[in-house]
Amino acid sequence: MSMLSHKSPPPPCAIVIFGANGDLTKRLIIPALYNLARTQLLPSSLALVGVDHNKKTSEEWTGQLKDFLAQVLAKNNEEIDEMLWRQVARSMTFLSGDFEKPETYQSLKDLLGELDEKQALEGNVLFYMAVADRFFGTIAGKLGEAGLVESGGSDNNKKVGFRRLIVEKPFGHDLASAKALNACLRKWLKEEQIYRIDHFLGKETVQNIMALRFGNGLFEPIWNRDRIDHVQITVAESIGVETRGKFYEATGALRDMIPNHLFQLVAMTAMEPPVSFDAEDIRAKKAEMFKAIHCLTLSDVVRGQYDSGIVGDEKAKAYRAEANVSPESTAETYAAMRLMIDNWRWAGVPFYLRTGKRLTKRYTEIAIRFKSAPLALFRETPVDELDADWLILRVQPDEGIRLRFNAKRPGPAMALESVAMEFKYKDYFKQAPAVGYETLIYDCLIGDATLFQRADQVEAAWDLVAPVLEGWANTTPRHFPNYAAGSEGPSAANDLLARDGRSWRRIS
Ligand code: BG6
Repeated sequence: MSMLSHKSPPPPCAIVIFGANGDLTKRLIIPALYNLARTQLLPSSLALVGVDHNKKTSEEWTGQLKDFLAQVLAKNNEEIDEMLWRQVARSMTFLSGDFEKPETYQSLKDLLGELDEKQALEGNVLFYMAVADRFFGTIAGKLGEAGLVESGGSDNNKKVGFRRLIVEKPFGHDLASAKALNACLRKWLKEEQIYRIDHFLGKETVQNIMALRFGNGLFEPIWNRDRIDHVQITVAESIGVETRGKFYEATGALRDMIPNHLFQLVAMTAMEPPVSFDAEDIRAKKAEMFKAIHCLTLSDVVRGQYDSGIVGDEKAKAYRAEANVSPESTAETYAAMRLMIDNWRWAGVPFYLRTGKRLTKRYTEIAIRFKSAPLALFRETPVDELDADWLILRVQPDEGIRLRFNAKRPGPAMALESVAMEFKYKDYFKQAPAVGYETLIYDCLIGDATLFQRADQVEAAWDLVAPVLEGWANTTPRHFPNYAAGSEGPSAANDLLARDGRSWRRIS
């Protein structure tokens, strides 16, 4: 994992973006490259090649992306810095081509050869698949057939540098499809050439979990079943499915969020300390953690679908009334589960996970509840119950860490109140503008795979949720819709914790 501010520019290289006109390129990749230019962390020599099926010139492509970047920056009241933009723009070439046709890859090969000659790119190429997942296998296969992904060695006496491939989410839609995709990629590429993105790992606050746990003497000794009662991980969204009705109908909240984003949060929180920050050491510890998770059953999970309601001050329609959604849809827009990790550190400590659309607020946190102190000392006092201590890692928004503990309320009586100590990123650090992809792209350019998912991790995650996906596919949810837009989710999710004598933290 790189610390951007202390790094030097990556080696010269070409970045080829498949899906050059897509949303991801506009919203995240180009702004991230612009921000890397701001911190002088673009490759010392860069050729940025955009591939997509439309016909357009490089000038048109560059102009459109500049307009879009201006809109992204305007959201933070920023204007484009022309000098920085020129650094990105001068490297840009558009190649029109069909992802399925071999000619596209021949033209790409020729173009990369020319650019390499002109710009001394040392044969290094990063291919970025910013396309719909149905193209992942096709593109990898065609790149392979065109001889574009063989790294190292030489090609017709020309030096071939690194060849890496970034694959976006979704990586499969179940265990079988994830395995098939891995097999398809591995036919042409070695595992170390494949960078599977989970954009949650690009978030500073997620990376900070490792800093908090392993960079402090305070937390790790109490990070276990002796001191921790349970963990709650919440990824709540206030938005609905927006324009993605079709995608959501086929995907649902569980597939969309849990085996990837939420499991990565579990892994960062629960993995054992690695022997080094080397990618393989960290990934091995994560893999071990996944192996220790108990098999899930349907009684460990809850699903929900939003009805109409009020979110913020606005009326929101029911999921079944959204565009491209069936009026009888059984797709879940909410999922909650109880995970048990069967190892020495976590045995008996439940991890409760929940995620959903159209909840009361957008808010992601990992809340660690410590075991309560014995009440004995307070028996002769008015204190009849002790609040538990909580450590709350706030991932977004209001990024920070909060420690809740009991303090004596001033006055003659012994009365306790839960108080908080708080660290907020924005108060401590003057943060450079970022879209969350800067570290991921930079790390890939320098060959650091720490923040990317290895094949076995992706498969282990799908394997874990497989019984639930199967069970849900075979039973019709009877009470859908079962939570109002703007609420905290279905009541069945409360029952999941109530069974264990616990309750969710408020989403606030
Ligand atoms: C995506 C999901 O992976 O993550 C979306 O497909 C979800 O449904 C998004 O809204 C949440 O990401 P973030 O960074 O906005 O919390």
